[in-house]
Amino acid sequence: MYRILNFLVIVSVINADVLPKSVLLNDGRRIPIISYGTLGKTQDLDLIKPAVIQAIESGYRQIDTAAAYENEEQVGEAIADVISRGIVTREELWITTKLNLEVGTREGVLPALQASLKKLKLDYVDLYLIHSPENLVLVQEYDYLNVWKGVEDVRRLNLTRSIGVSNFNITDINRVLANSEMVPSVNEVEVNPTYTNSEIIAHCQSLNITILSYAPFGFMVPRPIDYNVTSTFKDPVLVRIAQKYGKTTSQVVLRYLIDRKTIPIPRSTNTERIKLNIDLFDFRLSQEDISSINELNKDVKVYNFDQEALAILFDYYGL
Ligand SMILES: NC(=O)c1ccc[n+]([C@@H]2O[C@H](COP(=O)([O-])OP(=O)(O)OC[C@H]3O[C@@H](n4cnc5c(N)ncnc54)[C@H](OP(=O)(O)O)[C@@H]3O)[C@@H](O)[C@H]2O)c1
Ligand SMILES: *[C@@H]1O[C@H](CO)[C@@H](O)[C@H](O)[C@H]1NC(C)=O
Ligand SMILES: *[C@@H]1O[C@H](CO)[C@@H](O)[C@H](O)[C@H]1NC(C)=O
Ligand SMILES: *[C@@H]1O[C@H](CO)[C@@H](O)[C@H](O)[C@H]1NC(C)=O
Ligand SMILES: *[C@@H]1O[C@H](CO)[C@@H](O)[C@H](O)[C@H]1NC(C)=O
Repeated sequence: MYRILNFLVIVSVINADVLPKSVLLNDGRRIPIISYGTLGKTQDLDLIKPAVIQAIESGYRQIDTAAAYENEEQVGEAIADVISRGIVTREELWITTKLNLEVGTREGVLPALQASLKKLKLDYVDLYLIHSPENLVLVQEYDYLNVWKGVEDVRRLNLTRSIGVSNFNITDINRVLANSEMVPSVNEVEVNPTYTNSEIIAHCQSLNITILSYAPFGFMVPRPIDYNVTSTFKDPVLVRIAQKYGKTTSQVVLRYLIDRKTIPIPRSTNTERIKLNIDLFDFRLSQEDISSINELNKDVKVYNFDQEALAILFDYYGL
């Protein structure tokens, strides 16, 4: 009798050096294909410096911070540490920060970036983003078209090399394009298996605007607000794909975001998980794998910015 193989899965072995580790932006600069997220509780601020040091030692080259995270000083200390020890040069790092939420005018941008640079102990950042199109903290004057002019100004002054936006929807992006001199190079938005965010991604990618994917682990990890979305690292779809490539389901989720041509921004302060989350360059998902994960979409965001949700978020993070 012959044993019959029902099916045979052939997974090609990929040399770790073959898959690209950076992406070309529309301004001609190359950005690392994975970022390291730093949003954390201000009560745990002491964790930030050692975690960023460890992330850079583990191979991350892009760091994602924001004035609103109140951790730019700790991030800056970590950067100064790794540079002084010769682990990396400034040019090898990609530092992204975001405009203070309290700035709603063109004139407000330069002093805000100068304050961030001082905390970061840098003379330029690689990428400066408008954090939100909306007036989240209810300042008197807020118009993101004016703010964008200020962002163009600081780019001309060479205080940031690339510029972009965050949390912009299709209408917001189109308004910026129709009313500005410079095109955003990126839009940083939430993307994960239960919030696949396909429309804004397709729109931005058609315009050569690169997507940075925040909250990559969606509701697979604890969140401040329970939106009743069931999502787990033990999801059978993710487990099947992970087994096929001999990776973890968390790595499959990050690779899914890369293979959708976005840049994931995982956050971890845990030694093992910091390393796990960048060990992504020896496999690649097929189109079928991506489609299967897309079917987990529930169209529910982790991060909502209405005033009620925002109050809970600020309280949770101690901001
Ligand atoms: N532009 C914006 O408006 C905006 C909004 C939100 C976030 N962001 C950026 O995006 C970054 C990421 O978003 P996020 O912080 O919400 O969430 P995330 O990276 O999706 O999730 C972070 C959580 O996942 C856990 N985790 C990390 N790796 C894991 C793994 N391999 N297996 C299991 N659990 C794991 C972490 O715990 P451990 O530390 O214990 O590993 C932490 O609790 C932020 O830090 C921030 O830089 C930007
Ligand atoms: C995106 O911009 C880069 C840099 O200017 C350019 O080389 C590339 O061809 C553009 N891609 C598309 C699809 O327009
Ligand atoms: C896009 O966001 C703006 C606020 O910036 C909002 O007024 C508008 O309704 C949103 N449009 C869509 C289609 O969600
Ligand atoms: C901006 O900085 C870069 C790198 O330091 C330099 O090559 C370039 O000449 C500067 N441009 C201006 C306008 O200062
Ligand atoms: C989640 O479900 C519970 C029970 O049905 C409900 O009380 C709660 O309001 C829901 N949460 C959200 C954010 O919708």
